[in-house]
Amino acid sequence: MRLNLFPFLFTFTIISLSSHVLSTSDLILTKVDRRIDLSSQIVRTTTSLKVENAGSDIVSEIWLAFPDSLVNYLAHLKATLKEGKGKAKPSSGAGLPYQVVQPKDAPASLKIYSVTLPKGLAKGETLTLDVLAVFTHILQPFPEKITQADIQLLLFQETAQYLSPYPVKAQSLTVKLPEARIESYTKLESAKLQGSELKYGPYENLPPYSYLPIVIHFENNQPFAVAEELVREIEISHWGNVQITEHYNLVHGGAQSKGEFSRLDYQTRPYVRGASAFRRLVARLPPRAHSVYYRDEIGNISTSSLWGDSKKTELEIEPRYPIFGGWKTAFTIGYGLPLQDFLFGIDGKRFLNISFGSPFNELVIDTLVVKVVLPEGSKDTSASVPFSVKQRHETKFSHLDIAGRPVVVLEKNNAVPEHNVHFQVYYKFNSLSMLREPLMLISGFFFLFVASIVYMHADLSISKTSASYLAKIQWEEVQATAHQIHNIISLCLTTHDKLEASLRDLSRSGDIQACKATRKSVDSSLKELTKELKSPVAFLQSSPQATPILPKVEEVIAKERDLQEKLMAKHSTVVDCYEKKLGGREIENRVASHQQKITALRQEIGDLLDLIDEI
Ligand SMILES: *[C@@H]1O[C@H](CO)[C@@H](O)[C@H](O)[C@H]1NC(C)=O
Ligand SMILES: *[C@@H]1O[C@H](CO)[C@@H](O)[C@H](O)[C@H]1NC(C)=O
Repeated sequence: MRLNLFPFLFTFTIISLSSHVLSTSDLILTKVDRRIDLSSQIVRTTTSLKVENAGSDIVSEIWLAFPDSLVNYLAHLKATLKEGKGKAKPSSGAGLPYQVVQPKDAPASLKIYSVTLPKGLAKGETLTLDVLAVFTHILQPFPEKITQADIQLLLFQETAQYLSPYPVKAQSLTVKLPEARIESYTKLESAKLQGSELKYGPYENLPPYSYLPIVIHFENNQPFAVAEELVREIEISHWGNVQITEHYNLVHGGAQSKGEFSRLDYQTRPYVRGASAFRRLVARLPPRAHSVYYRDEIGNISTSSLWGDSKKTELEIEPRYPIFGGWKTAFTIGYGLPLQDFLFGIDGKRFLNISFGSPFNELVIDTLVVKVVLPEGSKDTSASVPFSVKQRHETKFSHLDIAGRPVVVLEKNNAVPEHNVHFQVYYKFNSLSMLREPLMLISGFFFLFVASIVYMHADLSISKTSASYLAKIQWEEVQATAHQIHNIISLCLTTHDKLEASLRDLSRSGDIQACKATRKSVDSSLKELTKELKSPVAFLQSSPQATPILPKVEEVIAKERDLQEKLMAKHSTVVDCYEKKLGGREIENRVASHQQKITALRQEIGDLLDLIDEI
């Protein structure tokens, strides 16, 4: 096993420089207890430092040293003073302020974090400092590539002696390993393995910057779930809801999977033939979370379960396939939260107070983007996050938005569960703006309503049962009847022509009998046609829709009857004249008055028929 991966590349120059560095203060670490937790993919180092001021000057800073190569993986650092005898939880309360310093004569391969004490430490005084350092991506899979059937083995490298800028009187180290196989560990004289706990030390009276490399090679099949990117969108609706939508781009950050994946193998013995894969993830959502969903690009995934009590809601999701080393999956979870649990007011401002990180257990997030979408019209936005983040502003548009919703975007790299703490976004909001959207909706619906009424009236064919449809049917019947009458009258006029034609025949042939016979047949034809008119006319008289056209119809019928009479009278007169053998001039004189009326009536009937035709 070649250990060229060792991250501590500092050299002995550190030690030769150490006395120089030490001269900045006369602190002594009387006791150092370190505990390193390797039970998940996240490495947590808890160090309890008992510090004594052996010099005469008051000291207000304590230095913590980390190898440069490790600093990039340091996700979280928190130093707290332990008050009294009680064991303070390292996560409770805010940590002491610290900054990276670069002392001129400090070894270049080290980064020094200088923690500022709230109160100077005077000569002979002691204090206890608890330091929590959280690292990601420092457990190296070894071998780097494994098959589906292999377990995942990891390498962890440390120094058994605490890397301190100060002399250390007494110290010990405990490494908590998962309850699984321990392939190997550096077997120093002082090493002791008890169950899954590996102890080194105690070591006594060590000079500054002492170190003693150790390597532990162990099995860890915990899910190495790494979100390469997580975008959390927190949208506030003043109507009572906070909507959370989280988009995950997840990768299995453990040993790369090699060889063919056999689903059959996996399904028959999932815990043996796929021990390093993760098949489910558990998220701890706030209590009273509702409308929870879990989907990927294909659609909703039903293999999730949800349960909860008054303190939390737990969501367990199962991706469509088990995730092996190097495999990726992308999915989205969403849930709603009651607004009153997360939105508060102070000094005329409103503020959101909600947790920052992912609700998934032990998730490493390479890039975490938290977007807080405020209601449209929010002003004077500001965010308060208890660690450093990149901030920017965006605008989000959704339906009904005019100016868009202000979005506060917070970005954090290398986020761990320790970052899942509450943060606040403050903003000003005029309650009247809240009414803008409903008013828009109400007026929108009103116009829609009015428009639909107009549409119903404009388009008569919209509904077969409406009154307008019946009216349309009735009007069509009136039109048809009017045209029927028009046709009968036209037939009458054609019949009149036969009468006129018989007179012309008479003048040529002098056949009075034939002429009389024609008149007889014409007379009976006209009587028939008059009978045919009866029922359509009766229909028009009974139909209210026909009221506007009835006078014209009745007029044309009356005029036709008048014309008939005049034509018959003319016909009789002419035949009479022929029987009396009167001359042409005499005949003309006798029919002249009839002829005038006939011409006028014909004109009038023609005009009326044209009118009826246009209906
Ligand atoms: C997915 O689930 C959510 C919540 O249960 C539901 O609102 C949505 O309509 C579902 N979508 C599909 C495509 O089934
Ligand atoms: C935010 O909520 C947390 C948890 O409820 C609470 O401890 C904290 O005091 C709140 N912060 C503010 C500024 O109200």
